[in-house]
Amino acid sequence: MALIGQEKGEHLMKHAVTIATICALSLALGGCQRASEPATDATSAGAAEAITWPVSINAAMVGMIDHSADYLFALGNGDMPRNENDWHLVGNSAYEIVLAGAVIRHPGTGPFDAAWVKEPEWQRLAQELSGIGEEAVKLAAAKSTDEAAWRAVGDRLIANCLECHKQFKPEIPSEGILRGSTERQSRGISIFGY
Ligand code: HEC
Repeated sequence: MALIGQEKGEHLMKHAVTIATICALSLALGGCQRASEPATDATSAGAAEAITWPVSINAAMVGMIDHSADYLFALGNGDMPRNENDWHLVGNSAYEIVLAGAVIRHPGTGPFDAAWVKEPEWQRLAQELSGIGEEAVKLAAAKSTDEAAWRAVGDRLIANCLECHKQFKPEIPSEGILRGSTERQSRGISIFGY
């Protein structure tokens, strides 16, 4: 992978997404253990340089990570899914967190993205994010309504967000992309159902 040039970037990206998706889907079956290993080998480092996402990490944070995390935090706060559709939202969000950890290990179009992903601490926290997502995948697959178990996952999740933000997040979002409205949550209204 390290030898693949920029012109192959698009192909590589599709390939990576496919692999990531397969890994995420097989996690429920306990597969793809390698995805949880630290990116210390040369192959992973090369891949990190070769892949560039079409949006910024700032956009990925708001559009994918923050959005999905809300559906996992909800259960730890006692806001439980009420039907199949709700459980799909939770399960999909859990997969998205697993995938998001993999996505942000590569740069997007943001001005600082390339520098961030080169930091070992960034890579560690991104990998940790995927690991927390895996825990949520298991709970969602079991349709667990164990609030304490969800809260434990939520606590690890928020600690992960905050640790990375403390180290890397600029005060003003690099691309001006801010967290969207979470009015329902801030008003204490369930995230599920309309
Ligand atoms: C590996 C590092 C890392 C992790 C883990 C991480 N973030 Fe971020 N996050 C950042 C950085 C860096 C930015 C700033 C991006 C920019 O401005 O270009 C950011 C920006 C954001 C933003 C948009 C900026 C804003 O002020 O509104 C939101 C929302 C956000 N993160 C939510 C989360 C949540 C929720 C989690 C955990 C579930 C999380 N992030 C985990 C690094 C991380």
